[in-house]
Formats: sequence, structure tokens, C-alpha cells
Amino acid sequence: PGRLRDLAQAAGVKIGSAVRAAPLNPDPAVGDEDYRDWAREQLSTLTAENELKWDHVEPARGRFNFAAADTIVQFAHETEQTVRGHTLVWHSALPAWVSALSGDQLEAALQTHITSTVSHFGSDVAIWDVVNEPLNDSGSLRSGGSQGFWKDRLGEDYIDESFRWAHAANPTARLYLNEYGIESDSPKARGLYELVKGLLARGVPIHGIGFQTHKLETSRLSGLADSLRRFADLGLEVAITELGVKLLTPAGGDSLGRQADVYGWVTAACLAVPRCVSVTAWGFTDRYSWIPAPGAATMLTDQYVPKPAYYRVRDVLAAG
Ligand code: G3I
Repeated sequence: PGRLRDLAQAAGVKIGSAVRAAPLNPDPAVGDEDYRDWAREQLSTLTAENELKWDHVEPARGRFNFAAADTIVQFAHETEQTVRGHTLVWHSALPAWVSALSGDQLEAALQTHITSTVSHFGSDVAIWDVVNEPLNDSGSLRSGGSQGFWKDRLGEDYIDESFRWAHAANPTARLYLNEYGIESDSPKARGLYELVKGLLARGVPIHGIGFQTHKLETSRLSGLADSLRRFADLGLEVAITELGVKLLTPAGGDSLGRQADVYGWVTAACLAVPRCVSVTAWGFTDRYSWIPAPGAATMLTDQYVPKPAYYRVRDVLAAG
């Protein structure tokens, strides 16, 4: 057995997790040494779970606050990990001042937000989730209500423009569209495929598709490798960006074994597709997770005890 990050490297991918700035803090009064050690030893790519979202980064117009994200980026730099920047354009986690804008004002605020954020990090953040979750389950662009914010206020063009602005701010960054519910041949996956073909035809600088992959212990992942391949065949990178496997509660029978199966299938699907570059979990311990116990969706308990899912991911990477 070895560290996940070494096994992943040998298998030609990166292994990562969403992380939080507070437990990663180097000040022992704030941070969590176990959390820091595990992240350092086992992971080769990090994603800020919340610290790069608009409400954190620019809570008031023109007042940028990168302190929490800088903590994560600094840690990654010291431990030779890459950072996935998550996320520039999303209908959620918007500060109230943005939600109040429309038209030219909103467009200008969006351009400034993307340009300032991407520029601040430069080559330290070389991958960005530029647009997050733009689609309905039916495969059309979200519209109506708070979820339709971007399309309703700026028109469909907001996606093209966002990628172009991000590219202008860092021409070497890998720019992703990140989505959930595309892990099989669903209406949403087809809608995304058509959207992305259009972006490519118009010369929009998009380089990758993020497959979030939030799952349940009962999920079946038979279509995942095919779905990854379909997008890779467009010439794009693909990545698993938010893997988590929620236990049914109350847990019954071999819940942890089923959870391990799903973690293993997802990892194996990425390894089966040459252009799949990374597997990122959405949190690595139930201690800091958007689905803590009893859903317990991560690979380690809240006491950092590895679950069967951890050993399965390790074995799949080792078999590479
Ligand atoms: O920071 C405040 C804290 O000051 C306050 O006391 C507390 C009270 O509720 O809220 C804290 O903010 C919360 C934040 O997480 C930090 O914990 C927000 O309310 C809460 O909405 C936020 O939830 C995050 C959610 O995205 C919305 O941004 C989750 O942690 C995060 O895991 C989740 O991640 C998303 C991805 O970005 C996109 N894909 C789906 C995924 C899961 O929903």
C-alpha cells in the first residue's frame, strides 16, 4: 500500500478533495493538524469547497477578500498540489448586491469579478470551474426563479463571455464547465453535449468538463466511463470533481461496502478514460463535510478512520 497521491501519479491521474480553509490553517489554534497531515500526504489536487465562491470573494462590490482562498492556495503550493478554482459563475452563493443587478451593470460586474479573481491567483490556480451547473435536468439552460438568474438577466451569451474573460485573465489556465447529473446518457448529459459542441464551434476557450458525481450507496455507475468518453471525444479533458457517496439512513446491511463499490467504480471509470485527469472527492472526512454522519459520504470517519471506500480507491489506483 502507498499514499493515494503516489498511486494516482503512477496511474496517470491526480487524486483530490474539496477542502476548507479553517482546518487547513497553519496556526494550530485555528487549524486541525490531522486534517493538514492527511491532505498533505494523500492528495495531489485541492478544491476550495466554498472560499472561492462569489459571496466569499467579493461580498461587497469592488471589495475583494481572498484571505481564506489564499490559505488553501498557499498550502497547496507548499505541498506541490494543484488547485481547482471553484467557481466563477454560479446561480448560488451570490451576494445580495449581485442579485440586485441586471443588464450592462451585471455584465460589467461579472467581467470584473472573473478578471480580478483569475488574475489574483495567476499560475497558482491553473484550473477553473468557470461555469457551474448551468443546466436543468431536461438539458435546457436554467431559466426562471433564482436558478435562472444568469440566463434570464444576461441571455445565453453569458457562458461564452465568461469563458472568454477567464481566458483573457489567464491564457494558460484550463477552463471547465462543471455539472451534475451527467454521469450517464441522460437528457441533461445530451443537453450539455450540444451546448459544448456549440461553444467549441464558436471558438470559445473551454478545455474540460467536470463531472460532479454526488451519489448514493445504491447508485449504479454503469454509464460513467461512456459518458466521460463522449465528452473526451470532443477533444476535452474530463474530471470527477465532487465525488461523494451518501449512506442510506439508517444504515443497513453492508452500507459501507456498497459505498466502497461506488467509490471504486467511479475511480475505475476515470482510469479507463485517457483524458480523465483527476478524481476529486467533495470532502475527505465526515468531520468537515456537507454530508456528515449519518449520511457520512466521505472516505474517512469524523475521527479520520479510513472506511472501506478509502481502501477501495487505493486498490483501484494501485491496479492502475
Ligand atoms: O460561513 C457561514 C457561517 O458563517 C454561518 O454561521 C453558517 C450558518 O449556516 O453558514 C456558513 O456558510 C455556509 C457555507 O456552506 C460554509 O459552511 C452556507 O450557509 C452554506 O450554504 C454553504 O453550503 C455550501 C454549498 O455548496 C453552497 O455554497 C456547502 O458547504 C458546499 O459543500 C456546497 O458545494 C456544492 C458545490 O459548490 C457545487 N456542487 C454541489 C455542492 C454540494 O451542494
